[in-house]
Amino acid sequence: MKLRILGIESSCDDTSVALIEGTENSVHVVKEATRSQINIHKLYGGVVPEVAAREHADVIVPLIKKMWSKKLKPDAIAVTAGPGLITSLMIGVHAGRTLSALTHTPLISINHLEGHIYSNWLAAHTKRIEFPALCLVVSGGHTELILMRCHLQYKKLGATRDDAAGEAFDKIAKLIGFEYPGGPKISLCAQWGNPATIAFPRPMIDSDDFDFSFSGLKTAALYYVRAHAEIMDKKNTTARANFCASFEKAIVDVVVAKTIRAAQQYKVKTVLLCGGVAANNLLRSELKKMVSLHVPTSVFRFPTAAHCMDNAAMIATAGYFKFRARQFTTWQKMKVDPEWEL
Ligand code: KG4
Ligand code: ZN
Repeated sequence: MKLRILGIESSCDDTSVALIEGTENSVHVVKEATRSQINIHKLYGGVVPEVAAREHADVIVPLIKKMWSKKLKPDAIAVTAGPGLITSLMIGVHAGRTLSALTHTPLISINHLEGHIYSNWLAAHTKRIEFPALCLVVSGGHTELILMRCHLQYKKLGATRDDAAGEAFDKIAKLIGFEYPGGPKISLCAQWGNPATIAFPRPMIDSDDFDFSFSGLKTAALYYVRAHAEIMDKKNTTARANFCASFEKAIVDVVVAKTIRAAQQYKVKTVLLCGGVAANNLLRSELKKMVSLHVPTSVFRFPTAAHCMDNAAMIATAGYFKFRARQFTTWQKMKVDPEWEL
């Protein structure tokens, strides 16, 4: 049976609305539109919650109008209800509730992380992703390893004890003068560098759990910059590239090592990568290589770069599976939960 789902995402600094169609075999995007607020927040060096909420409020109605048509009326509306910035979440949730009340369309609450996970099902043959699956979620706010034995069931194996991987990228990028969000800029600069130049620590790489910690690495990078003035010299492209490459490799080594160990321990059939940092080319290529070397019975998958970032198509895709499982609610019952744990 074909189902059409409208997705709404506004948990941080991207307003996104998408219409997807799902069948037994595949899920595909009919149309989608995302408004990024990066150009506004980079003036402040990071996301300012009140500014983000005002921007969401300005653009969400025009975006919904663009995605909505009587001919393609959705069967359900899927909205990110948490985790995220409460003021940002409220804009998307209230838009979804209003639309649901006026059009008598069921509402589906989506956890932002489950949205990221389901970005892997976008444009994929839905039956090709086999369980058990291990998901490495790496974003600006989260670094988690999640085991899925079947659709919509999540067991958290480990998570970061301090900063998320994306947060560590952004903070170190800011320190050396890159604009927010710095992750992609570090990655770009790292392309010309030698990752073996600086021996940064690989925190918790050998710990026998699946948790992460990036604050020690961040401090080591901070001390290194303080002791080596050339890193702050934008003309010294070699020193900066070597620094970025060494820092990026330290993060990638840790997340890849832990993912491989979890994949082996739980004998998963699929390894999924998602979240903003999943757009990182080194992470994609290293994980791909290590899965084929050390867990050859597993298939490695990752979303397109555009669907690694916050987007409503992934929220609608998670909504498609929840709606099929009859997990939906009404506008009266839908609540925002900024701390929602998967
Ligand atoms: O998932 P996302 O769009 O938002 C959150 O849910 O947090 O992730 C944004 C994060 C930012 O920290 C950004 O710097 C990071 O993803 N990021 C990257 C790359 N592209 C985005 N980090 C490293 N390398 C990249 N290529
Ligand atoms: Zn996200």
